[in-house]
Amino acid sequence: VSLRNHNTFGVEARAHAYLPVTSAGALETVQRDAGLAALPRLILGGGSNILLTRDFPGLVLHMENRGIEIVGEDEDATYVRAAAGENWHQFVLWTLAHGLGGLENLSLIPGSVGAAPIQNIGAYGIELKDRFHALTLFDFATGERTTLNKAECMFGYRDSVFKHRLRDRAAVLDVTFALPKKWQAAIRYADVSNELAARKIVEPTAGQISDAVIAIRTRKLPDPAVIGNAGSFFKNPLVTAKQRDALLTKYPQLVSYAQPDGSVKLAAGWLIDQCGWKGRTAGAAGVYENQALVLVNRGGASGADIAQLANAIQEDVAQRFDVMLEPEPIFL
Ligand code: EPU
Repeated sequence: VSLRNHNTFGVEARAHAYLPVTSAGALETVQRDAGLAALPRLILGGGSNILLTRDFPGLVLHMENRGIEIVGEDEDATYVRAAAGENWHQFVLWTLAHGLGGLENLSLIPGSVGAAPIQNIGAYGIELKDRFHALTLFDFATGERTTLNKAECMFGYRDSVFKHRLRDRAAVLDVTFALPKKWQAAIRYADVSNELAARKIVEPTAGQISDAVIAIRTRKLPDPAVIGNAGSFFKNPLVTAKQRDALLTKYPQLVSYAQPDGSVKLAAGWLIDQCGWKGRTAGAAGVYENQALVLVNRGGASGADIAQLANAIQEDVAQRFDVMLEPEPIFL
């Protein structure tokens, strides 16, 4: 089975076996079948955070279950549950259409609801964990459905337990969000406040913030339907304040953000840009013209081409800034 249409890079790779999952029952069937259960597993959502560097000699489980519903409310929040197979952006629009703010900053992020907790998606000052309540997962080790709360998911910057202990061991079936009753606009990010100012909006609604974010992302980031990519290819690296100060003496323009714990996040896009990579092409892989943090498939690139380009960028950045960039997508 070709996975070309199941990864937003649009690279070719084949899976030994492929199963669309429209309900938890399909996962139970896999778990009970000794032959299927023994195969290596890859749980796939929108394929927007994966780099397929080779064929997959196992079973791909493509999450296609659907459904969105309001499941409760209390003084603080309205609780909305969405099935893993729902498209993330369509889900965000659903909440806004139902008068529920809270996810607007995360508009237009590619991928599915079930994949969103895996890397704790984030943009413009909001991370999934800020609106997360709980999720249901199917655990292949036990064959049971369990619920995880926020603490159990161990969310970090583009990170969660699903990238570690539970990797390929559990499939997210649905996610429940707590959308705040006392909604407040999160518009500290300059990109967002500038866009709202340009639109002459002073007290934005959640819908207006969503529109602004959609406009910003459309300008800065390539549409995977047009040019293959997986969003930011590297995480913004964390360094110590001391390292930042040393870099600042050499590079006064360095873009950095102080973190609450005293460490400092550097803008990986800036580091890559400074090394002259923006807009460059290596074979059929390339670095996006408007955002150096995004690697693209210019047509016919293989996962290995993209991995090779990523490697060259990592080496350059390490040599020049003594900082090791860590890829964001999961490599296969
Ligand atoms: N920059 C450059 N050159 C570039 C790209 C960026 O100089 O080619 C500079 C910018 O001028 C800016 C700074 O780097 O001063 C940061 O750039 P930007 O605001 O575009 O954000 P980012 O740090 O590159 C992160 C997330 C994005 C998210 C945006 C907005 C990561 C790895 N990426 O990007 O997330 O949308 O902030 O919040 O944290 C993703 O994860 O796929 C993603 C797109």
